[in-house]
Amino acid sequence: MGKIERMRKLNKNYARLPFSIKGGKWGLSKKFVKGEGNLNADIMLIGQAPGANEDIYGRPFVGISGRLLDSLLASIGISRSEIYITSTIQFFPPKNRAPTNKEIELCREYLMSQIEIISPKLIILVGSIALKSITDMSPIMEYHGTLMQSDGIFYYPTLHPAAAIRIKRNMPIIQRDFESLGVLKDNIL
Ligand code: URA
Repeated sequence: MGKIERMRKLNKNYARLPFSIKGGKWGLSKKFVKGEGNLNADIMLIGQAPGANEDIYGRPFVGISGRLLDSLLASIGISRSEIYITSTIQFFPPKNRAPTNKEIELCREYLMSQIEIISPKLIILVGSIALKSITDMSPIMEYHGTLMQSDGIFYYPTLHPAAAIRIKRNMPIIQRDFESLGVLKDNIL
């Protein structure tokens, strides 16, 4: 089965997740915000969870965080269409709360399957939730801007754009992370 078919099947199963939880215990939006982009990408980017705008439009990173993300990527010559973008969980947590460990666990298999299908060389981990759920490392303030390698994949954690929008002193930090990424990627891809 090719990548398009594998991803289509995965998304179909993943979208059903909220309806398969017994006892009405699902605490997230039921709208599935699927990952998007180039299935043959060398670079995959994993965020936290859809926000309110993503929940409306059904696409990842289309709100204010997405605009900052697009400009950070553009600053190092990466266009959104050439990479694959997804989130740790793909359902909006109401009021933008952080996803619980249980919610992250429920979605983990789908996230790992996306990584397997895309088979990227480099994964940009955007924010503490993505870092923790993929590498079990924390805090993000310690590991951001550090290139790591495991099982043949490079991982590059950075802050979540929302953290740079919310807290002004984070803006130069995320900008520097992306500048370094611009140099690093040319050496590893
Ligand atoms: N933040 C994320 O982590 N993912 C999105 O899709 C949007 C905002």
